[in-house]
Amino acid sequence: MQIIAHRGASGTAPENTFAAFHRAWELGADGIETDIHLSADGVPICIHDAELKRLTGVRARVDSLTLAELKQLDVGRWKGEHFAGERIPTLEEVLKTVPFGKTLLIEVKDVPPRKLSPSLAPVLKRHSELLATRRVLFMSFFPDLLWEMQSSFPDLTQLLLAEKLSRLPAKIPQRLPCDALPVHGIGFSHKLEIPAATTDALLAAGSILAVWTENDPDRKSTWIDREFDYLITDHPERFVIP
Ligand code: G3P
Ligand code: CA
Repeated sequence: MQIIAHRGASGTAPENTFAAFHRAWELGADGIETDIHLSADGVPICIHDAELKRLTGVRARVDSLTLAELKQLDVGRWKGEHFAGERIPTLEEVLKTVPFGKTLLIEVKDVPPRKLSPSLAPVLKRHSELLATRRVLFMSFFPDLLWEMQSSFPDLTQLLLAEKLSRLPAKIPQRLPCDALPVHGIGFSHKLEIPAATTDALLAAGSILAVWTENDPDRKSTWIDREFDYLITDHPERFVIP
């Protein structure tokens, strides 16, 4: 099971910044997770919220500012003065820094589907080797975005995020991906009580299994026993074996 640092090592560094991503690699995480929005000029950038207020104090939507304007903002200081000066990374900047053999999980937030492919295509084309070797996975809560991604990038490995069991098909498909579900696996909230029959059926369908955001190290063995592939946590230091 791979240990994935949620928004980077966001328990101890400002989320979705190079400080958090570098800390994750230093701690020995197998991968990092990041959230994607688009700037006003269509550049995929790593930030969780659609609004800038929580992280920067600025009252504006992410998609109302250009990349140049967004790069002026400080997304580190809120976590501590010594993180001041951290800037919003672009997806491409992050892709370039993923060490060999490590994983990047990209969660596409509620971006308009028609804007997604044109913005991502040039970036993914430049890093196609990462997609082919399954070192980059896409995830979303939004099925329409997953369909859009699959039709534009058929080689992409994708996960559907499920915060409720009702997000899953009533009958688990015999094989994933399939006509009804364009994904290779499911990312479950750690809060869910997932029936064994559900994970058994998914495993039989060849599904990848991921869980987020698990911060309790006592639960690690449960997820291993249930054959999960990825555990996404704010605190990789609690899970990685030194
Ligand atoms: O890894 C999935 C998880 O990140 C989804 O929740 O709100 O942290 O993006 P959120
Ligand atoms: Ca996320």
